[in-house]
Amino acid sequence: MFENKSILITGATGTLGSALTRSLLSGAHGSPKKLLIFSRDEAKQFHLMQSLEKRFGGSINARVASRIGDIRNYDSVVKALKSIDTVIHCAALKQVPNSERFPEEAIATNIMGINNIINAIQNLSYPVDTVIGISTDKAVEPVSVMGMSKALQEKLIIAANQDIPRTRFINVRYGNVLGSRGSFLPTFLSQVKAGLPITVTNAQMTRFLITLDQAIETIFYAYRHAPPGYTVIPRIKAARIMDIANLLASNSGIEILETGTRHGEKIHETLATASELCRAEAIDTNYLLIAPELATNTTEKPCFKKADIESYTSAEHLENRDTLRIKLIEFEKKFITELEH
Ligand SMILES: NC(=O)c1ccc[n+]([C@@H]2O[C@H](COP(=O)([O-])OP(=O)(O)OC[C@H]3O[C@@H](n4cnc5c(N)ncnc54)[C@H](OP(=O)(O)O)[C@@H]3O)[C@@H](O)[C@H]2O)c1
Repeated sequence: MFENKSILITGATGTLGSALTRSLLSGAHGSPKKLLIFSRDEAKQFHLMQSLEKRFGGSINARVASRIGDIRNYDSVVKALKSIDTVIHCAALKQVPNSERFPEEAIATNIMGINNIINAIQNLSYPVDTVIGISTDKAVEPVSVMGMSKALQEKLIIAANQDIPRTRFINVRYGNVLGSRGSFLPTFLSQVKAGLPITVTNAQMTRFLITLDQAIETIFYAYRHAPPGYTVIPRIKAARIMDIANLLASNSGIEILETGTRHGEKIHETLATASELCRAEAIDTNYLLIAPELATNTTEKPCFKKADIESYTSAEHLENRDTLRIKLIEFEKKFITELEH
């Protein structure tokens, strides 16, 4: 898929971006010509490059380059786009409480960042083939600033197809990536390890869960199949956060504390609205492809079948408890191994 492509990964030092970089370097989806890692913090870039060298050998320096830059800054985005074929846009502010406290920061990163990428691509003399935006269920009927900013990121990406028909702009959208930086599961596991109570904000809360591997596969699937303006959603299951806390506490005898719903937090999440599901198509049972409302440059769109789903909320799509237990045991082992190294 990515054979001989030059790929810009914004936010490549984050949980998703670094796993994506490793996956692209493994060659399972073709051998990219160049991967450009783009983010602000030089220490994180240094550690990522070191870990890539350790894993893939010193020769990766010919294929991976890092660039310090800020997606809020148009000039630094223009420089990063030089000779790029494909953009995978992972850079974001993603913590709900931070965006509630500093909404202008979420606007600057999550909205103006993608706007800079789109404007820069429009002004390039050569074509970028694809831009993939990574979105979240929090962008659906959003109540938080973070969710609202990601909803606008999605809309900007869809609308860009109208002005820049030579580039395909698409979105992927999913729920909580298990174990991602700052998410609830590593927090719970660290609390258990330290012998502290597990803190759950609301006992009723449910969340869609996705593994890091599934999140990356969704990006590859979207790259392979999504026509311009489409949003790709993996058909994932949800869990009650309290059930996860109980499963972890039952092995350790640790208590669970309910701390109260935070600003901007929903009790249940929605992966696609009813009106989006009216436009949902499918190639197989694992993903939904939501067609854009806006007309796009979809002249050669393949004929997908209509998807068979009327609502998609986390309250209705709970994972079976035994499966959840198995997934948690696998995750816990991996997490503890990573902590020990
Ligand atoms: N994690 C989840 O559960 C989840 C679920 C659904 C969707 N997503 C989406 O997936 C994407 C990646 O999430 P993640 O979990 O990998 O996040 P993360 O671990 O917090 O990583 C964020 C990345 O973005 C970079 N970044 C932040 N602000 C930037 C800026 N202004 N300019 C350039 N780079 C910037 C960060 O590096 P520096 O700070 O060094 O710049 C870091 O590399 C985000 O778009 C997120 O909304 C995540």
